[in-house]
Amino acid sequence: MQGSGRVILAEGGACSELRSEAFGLIIFGASGDLTHRKLIPALFSLYRRRLLHDSFFVLGCARSLMSDEVFRTKVRESLTSLPDGDFSCLDGFLARLHYVAGDYTVADLYPRLRVAVEGLEQRYGTESNRIVYLATPPSLFCPIVQRLGTFQLTCEKRHPDCRVSVVVEKPFGKDLTSALALDAELHQLLNERQIYRIDHYLGKETVQNILMFRFANAVFEPIWSRQYVDHVQVTVAESLGVESRAGYFEQAGLLRDMFQNHILQVLALVTMEAPVSFEAERVRDEKVKLLRAIRAFPMANLDEYIVRGQYSDGQIEGRRLPAYRSEQGVAPDSSVETYVAAKVLIDNWRWHGVPFYLRSGKRLVGKATEIAIVFKKVPYSIFTPFSADALGQNVLVLNIHPEEAVALTIQVKSPGPKLCMSSLMMEFRYRDVFGVTPPDAYERLILDCIAGDQTLFIRSDAMEVAWTLFTPILEKWSADPSCIPYSAGSWGPAEANRILEPGHYWRTPSSYSES
Ligand code: BG6
Repeated sequence: MQGSGRVILAEGGACSELRSEAFGLIIFGASGDLTHRKLIPALFSLYRRRLLHDSFFVLGCARSLMSDEVFRTKVRESLTSLPDGDFSCLDGFLARLHYVAGDYTVADLYPRLRVAVEGLEQRYGTESNRIVYLATPPSLFCPIVQRLGTFQLTCEKRHPDCRVSVVVEKPFGKDLTSALALDAELHQLLNERQIYRIDHYLGKETVQNILMFRFANAVFEPIWSRQYVDHVQVTVAESLGVESRAGYFEQAGLLRDMFQNHILQVLALVTMEAPVSFEAERVRDEKVKLLRAIRAFPMANLDEYIVRGQYSDGQIEGRRLPAYRSEQGVAPDSSVETYVAAKVLIDNWRWHGVPFYLRSGKRLVGKATEIAIVFKKVPYSIFTPFSADALGQNVLVLNIHPEEAVALTIQVKSPGPKLCMSSLMMEFRYRDVFGVTPPDAYERLILDCIAGDQTLFIRSDAMEVAWTLFTPILEKWSADPSCIPYSAGSWGPAEANRILEPGHYWRTPSSYSES
């Protein structure tokens, strides 16, 4: 039986949210999906919550020919189609949007862009904080940055205390070699301090809460180790398939799409040592130290550590769904994985011997993202005839989706006879306690970028370690294109059980939603 506890928000608390600095944001890929679905809604939400400085502008850049007015109309349409309905300040927001059309690979764009940027910076008084957002395919990252460099658009010397930041979307490379090559090219033009490699999972409130939870409370850290933790499960399940992104997904596959970035970053936050301060470099030092402690996957018996699957046709919520290979844009004999489950071991004093089970897949039963810390059984049961094995284990779940929540399962005496026991879940949901839905991850990340704070962005060395870990697997898989089929609407292939150690079982996430 499960129940849920009630949480009362204690008085007080500390909050350091400030309005942003002045800034000018130049978006390459301004007519694309990411801009309209994520970036502009996040900016508008920040504007509406009065978290943006009065001095800011957004300059969209893309190939489509359009005026500022047409760009604003398109943004108006995309924003007003969103469910969130307060548009009273929309006109004020739209007035700060501007647009320049051009082909990114043709030099002629950049002098025009420079005139536009410098004019807007003077007009809005944002000369000291320029942000360039590359919401484009990765093949364009370097060509754009090179030309920005040639036309002095990345130069920080033109104004005292001037900062120019470049935000790079994923995928950052497709394997270790290509990622290092991309990084080397960017470093010829920019300092690491200027590069913001984005991973939107790091902007999610519950993901950020991992560090608060661990290092702002004295009670969890002492039990956060091999002495008390039996194993950990990180699940990122989605009911969506590849939707309109088959072209990208056929090149990427799930290991690149979810593991190399999101899941590994979450794992690092759960397992890293306490940084000496909450400053970007110190947090990122600890993260990369942890990533370096992850044991390389053994290539000789890889199947005991990682399982890949691909969805066949099936049913979710009564809806019949096609197999991955029948999706539009997918090769009929594609061997691209849409599901991965892996067992990861960390070779350090804190975690030696504790298995971390990570899994993610498309077209699973529902959308659920959770980190479950499963604690060891009690060493001995005094509650005869119940043995220690019969008593449930404590599980701490950090829930990211569908609800941003934290839940702890404990065993309690339930009313009735002397030996009547149940598992009870103490849960706190952000929405219930704080009365708001947590802001979208992009809001946090944009604010941090405006403030020049790289804590939640991936540093070059962490990116390199992540690719070092997964590239041998990708190479092995490309030479052996066999993928285990699983039905759409299931929890993935049953073969995922083979990586579990004796006595371990995949959890059904505490909650999941349809989308
Ligand atoms: C993206 C992946 O980075 O993350 C997608 O490319 C995936 O394939 C998405 O669906 C999941 O993000 P979220 O925030 O919906 O869990």
